Amino acid sequence: MNTFVLRSARHLAEIVFEKVVRPGDRVVDATMGNGYDTLKLCHLVGDEGKVYAFDIQELALKNTQALLEANGLLSRAELFLCGHEKMKNHVAYPIKFCAFNLGWLPGSDKVVRTNWVTTKQALEQALSLLCPHGVCVLCVYPGHPEGKVEKNALIPYLSSLPSQEYNVLWQQFVNAGADAPQCIIIQKQTI
Ligand SMILES: C[S@@+](CC[C@H](N)C(=O)[O-])C[C@H]1O[C@@H](n2cnc3c(N)ncnc32)[C@H](O)[C@@H]1O
Repeated sequence: MNTFVLRSARHLAEIVFEKVVRPGDRVVDATMGNGYDTLKLCHLVGDEGKVYAFDIQELALKNTQALLEANGLLSRAELFLCGHEKMKNHVAYPIKFCAFNLGWLPGSDKVVRTNWVTTKQALEQALSLLCPHGVCVLCVYPGHPEGKVEKNALIPYLSSLPSQEYNVLWQQFVNAGADAPQCIIIQKQTI
């Protein structure tokens, strides 16, 4: 039997991937990292869809390329060694979905990581690229200082989005401490 397990912010984000992304969709992975989210999205978009994935580290691009190749899915993705704040230079309207998994490349020295200035620029672009009912999901990690800065800036920014245009859900495990990873889901409305 397929048992539902309430596990982590990242797990919640994956559930949203599966609920929203359909074969033929065009989607963005704004933080490619080691390619696990890109791979999941490639499975979901099928042969007719496309995943546009961004990272500023060559190692991320190499690891993602190798992972997609090993799974025979590289043709479903376009990988950009480029900051997500330049997303609109490479991706045209409309996209169905955009994933942000903030922080650093797992296994790296943590020096290169997302920061609020470019995260905000990228998020604004992602929201403008979303089709009606398109969704943006962010995993946020306030357990480290830069992650806390991002979370503390994100929540007021998201709270200011007009509710006629976006529904915004902020999920946190309230008994895991204030610094536990959190998941944010934004859906564009149909006006
Ligand atoms: C937590 S990791 C992403 C993990 C990835 N989603 C996976 O499934 O493996 C965050 C990534 O964001 C990248 N990053 C940092 N600043 C960025 C930027 N301005 N544009 C795109 N990626 C960025 C880092 O290099 C790092 O690889």
